[in-house]
Amino acid sequence: MSKTFYITTPIYYVNARPHIGHAYTTIACDTIARRHRMLGDDTWFLTGTDEHGQKIERASAAAGKTPQQFTDEISAEFRALWDRMGLTYDDFIRTTSERHQLGVQALWRKIRDNGHIYKGTYTGQYCVSDELYVDAAGPGAPCPDCGRPTETVHEENYYFKLSAFQDQLIRLYTEQPDFIRPETRRNEVLSFVRGGLRDLSISRSTFSWGIPVPDDPKHVVYVWLDALANYITALGYGSNDASKFDKYWPADVHMIGKEIVRFHCVYWPAFLLAAGLPLPKSITAHGWLLFEESKMSKSRGNIVRAETIVDVLGADALRYFLLREVVFGQDGSFSFDALVQRYNSDLANGLGNLASRTLTMINRYFKGEIPSPTSASNTPADAAIADTAQTTIADYATLFDQFQFSRALETAWALVGAVDKYIVENEPWSLGAKSLGAKPDDASRARLATVLYTSAEALRIVTALAHPVMPYSTAKIWTQLGLGDIKKFNLAELRWGQLPPDTKLGEVQAVFPRADKSAVERMQKMEEQNSRGATGVPPVSVSTASVGTGASPVHPSEARQPVAVSDSSSAPTKPEAAPAKPAATIPEGKIAIDDFAKVDLRVAQVKTAERVKGADKLLRLEVDLGTEVRQLVAGIAEAYEPESLIGCKVVIVANLAPRKLRGLESNGMIVCASPEGGKPVLATFLEDVPVGTRLK
Ligand code: MSP
Repeated sequence: MSKTFYITTPIYYVNARPHIGHAYTTIACDTIARRHRMLGDDTWFLTGTDEHGQKIERASAAAGKTPQQFTDEISAEFRALWDRMGLTYDDFIRTTSERHQLGVQALWRKIRDNGHIYKGTYTGQYCVSDELYVDAAGPGAPCPDCGRPTETVHEENYYFKLSAFQDQLIRLYTEQPDFIRPETRRNEVLSFVRGGLRDLSISRSTFSWGIPVPDDPKHVVYVWLDALANYITALGYGSNDASKFDKYWPADVHMIGKEIVRFHCVYWPAFLLAAGLPLPKSITAHGWLLFEESKMSKSRGNIVRAETIVDVLGADALRYFLLREVVFGQDGSFSFDALVQRYNSDLANGLGNLASRTLTMINRYFKGEIPSPTSASNTPADAAIADTAQTTIADYATLFDQFQFSRALETAWALVGAVDKYIVENEPWSLGAKSLGAKPDDASRARLATVLYTSAEALRIVTALAHPVMPYSTAKIWTQLGLGDIKKFNLAELRWGQLPPDTKLGEVQAVFPRADKSAVERMQKMEEQNSRGATGVPPVSVSTASVGTGASPVHPSEARQPVAVSDSSSAPTKPEAAPAKPAATIPEGKIAIDDFAKVDLRVAQVKTAERVKGADKLLRLEVDLGTEVRQLVAGIAEAYEPESLIGCKVVIVANLAPRKLRGLESNGMIVCASPEGGKPVLATFLEDVPVGTRLK
């Protein structure tokens, strides 16, 4: 019976559209899954979307949709992109599906019935962005993990007795050092757990977008307990059919980004221990994909979409680049220049060139049939290639199984380099010329057969090894080698010398056409057009707080108002779509886009805030715009305590002519919603945005 192998990606939040950061994890898992299938393992690869919680509820409200409509749309986008990229997931779980909800409720009951859940009251800070209870100083204090403002929560909740699992967890990390990989992450987790665990609030009652707690539907299950359970609910845990669960659980690998290590390595094993279920075999955290120096994310507005790269260079180029360029486990930068450079050097000039020159010569000199090497014509150079290839097969497997993709590919490409050198040194074209002429030289022909066989065999080996990484192009090279369907090949049997002589080649075509400079420009343009054409979150009515409005204090974090921002991750426009033409005539009461563009709205961070003496309604603020710190005077003193504003990110009209208020120069205006007869509410963001970002 074949060995089973179960691998999972995190399930992606549907508050953002997919970008290459998400694709990175999914590609890594797809590659691992493909290799295991190729080795003959009974493989199960799970991915999906995380659709509950306050963050999603707010994002859908901001988009003017019901949470279900909103999550249906974005979840479908993830799935469509994975399909378009040919990712071979076996199952796609949505946390809003019935099978998942039933499974989560079954898990809750199990943990509860085992005595690990009790009711209590939580008062403290909550980070909606991370969906995490935090030890932050007080109202509005920044989240220690992501720096975004936290919100005060006061709720009756169900608690999970996390503290009871501290010793068991420490034992787990110590006795099973590979449970968390890489080691740096393991050490972080270990010291976090050694620092002491507190019980965890696992239900919420102030919003409803979640799975009802069994027997107490006023509460919904905490979104991380809900989400983590996907790894077992997708296998049928809690349903009538537990066959997949019995077959594949525990997972061999949970692949995650480094920011969600604590949830996976502390909470998840504790939940499973509490339910009496087996633990996953390992959890691997990779680093972040950076773009322009910071983590690629929707909130930073620095995302790159996978579609753009797939359209211009193909899915395999993206897969190869990500796995070759980024040292797995560490952060890595993405740039279009580096992508095209890598594509040209390793794929067009490297593997592609080796394939086309070898196969073209076999066509020319051996009528398209793999020649037979002859022992009489052997030289040490041929044996050296055979040895290198054998070592490459072994080293590649070791490195790949440690998820050192970059080094594994480097090893395989060292073989490509060695064969290139071998071809140059053995000059098959000269041997070919001698073996053809009026007086064919038999020795040259025999030597030519050996040189071309050796080259073709090395090409076959690199192609087989690289197949999980670049499934499409390697399948083409395999067919060109005359070997049929690469999917039928068992990688476990890969050895030097298996290429059968006399195999008839398929039609030879370039697999990686060289990319010229315009490729970079094209991709950049497509991304620019996409972000320009994005519709973003529909605007809510936004007004500027005029001096003098205001009432009783409101905490800014309780008053999050989404505003219209350009969001590069929103609805992709067709790359070729022409820019919208301005309407010829502007209807009465409307303004042209150019008029709106005159208003320079910027994200600013409050550095200091104090009351203006003798003016009950005014606050003097100093705000950081990224390029300068400005003084503003705002009529929000009756709505906000000055101290509560420090560190908050607000929106200001940056190009308003300066004016003096109570003798103080106000250099700009702060943007608030100003409800009729109510207090002004500062416009702020659901997610973190860099200081100085323009709203457009
Ligand atoms: N929904 C949770 C996960 C729950 S799993 C039970 C979540 N979702 S997420 O959409 O915010 O991020 C999920 C994963 O996407 C990250 O852990 C990481 O694997 C991947 N990435 C998102 N942005 C990324 C980069 N910029 N770089 C690399 N990976 C990134 O957290």
